[in-house]
Amino acid sequence: MNRPETSQRIYPEQVLQPLDLDAAFGNNHRPIELDLGSGKGRFLLARAQAHPEINYLGIDRMLRRIRKVDRKAERNGLNNIRLLRMEAYYAVSYLIPAESISAYYILFPDPWPKKKHHDHRLFNPRFIDALYRTMKPGAPVHIATDHLPYFDEIVDVMRAHAERFEETEAWEPTEEERTDFELLFIEHKPIGRATFIRKG
Ligand SMILES: C[S@@+](CC[C@H](N)C(=O)[O-])C[C@H]1O[C@@H](n2cnc3c(N)ncnc32)[C@H](O)[C@@H]1O
Repeated sequence: MNRPETSQRIYPEQVLQPLDLDAAFGNNHRPIELDLGSGKGRFLLARAQAHPEINYLGIDRMLRRIRKVDRKAERNGLNNIRLLRMEAYYAVSYLIPAESISAYYILFPDPWPKKKHHDHRLFNPRFIDALYRTMKPGAPVHIATDHLPYFDEIVDVMRAHAERFEETEAWEPTEEERTDFELLFIEHKPIGRATFIRKG
């Protein structure tokens, strides 16, 4: 199939088996950081711009958002971004290779506030297994949300896996790295932040 050579996107026919992430980034063997639920990409683009020595993978299920970030990455000449339109749990469980990720950013995941929808929340024991499998030993997962009940649930579920993850001081973004969602809330809502390191 003809694909534009300049596109940052990873296409469906490439996602039926674990991804060769290093090849997707041109075999430059740089560390790979993953923004799960990358949305409109403010964080991903700023981070990739500031850290050309790191490769950034953005995953989101909304095609419109993936396309928007793709266009901006191309316009800004960022060759260290790749984008995957995919359901987050599937991607982390089946497509991301073991011990391949140097840092995860899970920033403002959908909180599914209604109790009857809590099953849709990303953080559950199966997701934690997948997260752990894909992180390099010593890699951090940075979490932020404005939904404090969900924040408490996330922290509880991560702390319940203390044999695998160690809690450390929470990561704080720079001004440029604040996500699109964070900018909506920063003035008038407290934000819960936590960072956990994968043990060896
Ligand atoms: C509340 S937004 C936050 C976006 C971005 N991280 C930010 O802070 O601006 C949540 C994002 O996660 C994506 N998303 C939600 N559930 C997802 C899932 N199960 N798989 C992949 N993406 C998902 C949505 O499409 C949306 O772009």
